[in-house]
Amino acid sequence: MITKYGAPSESLSQQDVDIPIPKDDEVLIKTKAASFNPIDYKILRGDLKMVMKLKFPSPIGFDVSGEVVEMGKDTDAFEKGEAVYSRISKMGAVAEYVTAKAENVAKKPSNINHRQAAGIPLAGLTAYQVLFDVAQLQHGEYVFIPAGSGGVGSLAIQLARRAGAYVATTTSSVNVDWVKTLGPNQVIDYTRDEYTILLKDYDVVFDTLGREHTMEAFKILKDGGRLVTIAGEIDNHTAKELGLNQIIRWFLSFKARKITRKARSKNIMYRYKLMAPNGDQLTEITRLVEEGHVSPVVDSVFPFDKAHEALQRLTEGRAKGKIIVSMEE
Ligand SMILES: NC(=O)c1ccc[n+]([C@@H]2O[C@H](COP(=O)([O-])OP(=O)(O)OC[C@H]3O[C@@H](n4cnc5c(N)ncnc54)[C@H](OP(=O)(O)O)[C@@H]3O)[C@@H](O)[C@H]2O)c1
Repeated sequence: MITKYGAPSESLSQQDVDIPIPKDDEVLIKTKAASFNPIDYKILRGDLKMVMKLKFPSPIGFDVSGEVVEMGKDTDAFEKGEAVYSRISKMGAVAEYVTAKAENVAKKPSNINHRQAAGIPLAGLTAYQVLFDVAQLQHGEYVFIPAGSGGVGSLAIQLARRAGAYVATTTSSVNVDWVKTLGPNQVIDYTRDEYTILLKDYDVVFDTLGREHTMEAFKILKDGGRLVTIAGEIDNHTAKELGLNQIIRWFLSFKARKITRKARSKNIMYRYKLMAPNGDQLTEITRLVEEGHVSPVVDSVFPFDKAHEALQRLTEGRAKGKIIVSMEE
């Protein structure tokens, strides 16, 4: 549970709470493993206070893999004992039991264990939605996915390759060899080479880094290309879609003005994507994992009572794939 805003070591504590009761459209999952995502430490730090104020103590975590132990009365898609995973819609995955809306749950891929599966939902759905829903990536197109060693990047590379795209990525020297095993066409060591010099006329950039990196992406995009960010500024189109009020929208479009101006001048579609839970798309990812087209990458596994250390490692920004909290230790 999050007890206050701050660093993982001082703001997370183990607490006993009642086992949640599933609503009619929910399932109750006994957690085998959960995973952390950068959103968890951003919430913990208080970065999202303006849009999401926490009431302490608050549960934490969005990704779970486990077994169904109970179903709500309107839920017949799953059976007791079935192995499932989910990007749940309300925080609380790092717990022994968690409820999830059945529509956000999918069967766990049968060829991987719960620890591997727990790292997939949020990162995998993000990659899927950016590449296919927003960027509409096509077979034969060129896509640049920076940070191929990250939780999102490692899955995005594999999804894009499976879709028949040419994929270039960046990572630091220590990660180059294993990132190559994910199947990208080109891996650039960003500590040695400048990707903006090596790549040009790309159809799509999937910006996983934000800040100055978003602006840099324009250098390699072709006229009419698409730039989709998950870590940069929110564009007006997306702000409207998210139902944000006019004052916040005005503030956001002011922050994004340089990028939107640049995008217009280069005839480039610029979008921020906020991922959403989706059981159908997660089921599609299950199929891709079972067919061997996508494999999760696990950076490290921490036992439940060391969850704060797991989140601390993620905060440092050097994870190679996903950081998992295991309930089975
Ligand atoms: N909008 C959304 O819905 C959404 C969804 C998911 C994630 N996100 C955001 O997307 C970002 C990425 O998420 P994630 O889970 O992939 O993070 P992550 O797993 O923590 O990313 C860590 C990786 O980033 C790499 N990296 C750091 N700086 C780099 C650079 N300059 N160039 C290339 N690689 C670099 C690191 O590799 P090296 O150690 O080799 O540098 C490391 O492997 C986060 O900001 C997260 O909040 C947003």
